[in-house]
Amino acid sequence: MISVAIDGPSGAGKSSMAKRLAQELGYTYVDTGAMYRTIGLFALQNGKDPADAAAVAALLPALKLDIKLEGGAQHIWLNGTDVSEAIRAEQVGMAASAVGAQPAVRAFLLDTQRQLAARQNVLMDGRDIGTVVLPDATVKIYLTASAPARATRRLKELQGKGVQADYATVLADIEQRDYQDTHRAIAPLKQAADAQVVDTSDIGIEDSYALLKKTILSRLG
Ligand code: DC
Repeated sequence: MISVAIDGPSGAGKSSMAKRLAQELGYTYVDTGAMYRTIGLFALQNGKDPADAAAVAALLPALKLDIKLEGGAQHIWLNGTDVSEAIRAEQVGMAASAVGAQPAVRAFLLDTQRQLAARQNVLMDGRDIGTVVLPDATVKIYLTASAPARATRRLKELQGKGVQADYATVLADIEQRDYQDTHRAIAPLKQAADAQVVDTSDIGIEDSYALLKKTILSRLG
């Protein structure tokens, strides 16, 4: 099986580009961030602090997570409800980052992620795919952009959806998430030694996509 691991900080465009490229290559796109978001959402729905590891661990036996592919897009179901939209809220992203620091949560998801890659060709994105989940991935990419570049893009995206937001808050959220994701003790976000860096700080979305595609294709041989 062929596996392409794409890691990087939040807001670097991983999901949108990975989804598109997976479709073009005929691979299955696996969005691991969505799995952490679903656990974060479940904690919030149950009135628990997502940073409370004991409370979150106690919830896990009651959580059934299903990943279904519908028209090439990944849909995620939490205890029988499709939460693919609900998990996109900012607050859920923060909750995902908090639960992602917890060993019980990471252990809970690891098998699911590895099994998905064992059964089909995948393009999997996340924070620790090249370092922990698929250390033998065929191709590893570290997709990044500066925090200000990511904040500018995120602000535009939010404004496009009619969500009230200001640059300083969006930048602060991105920096906080970067800090949490790179400083946690378990599976922190970091570039795998054998990953190829793709930095999109100074290029637009189409050029970023072309660069990512070219880098992956050249490594697939
Ligand atoms: O990629 P994303 O923004 O949907 O991810 C949300 C959070 O989930 C991210 O801030 C950290 C966590 N996460 C993780 O710890 N490991 C992954 N492989 C993917 C996401």
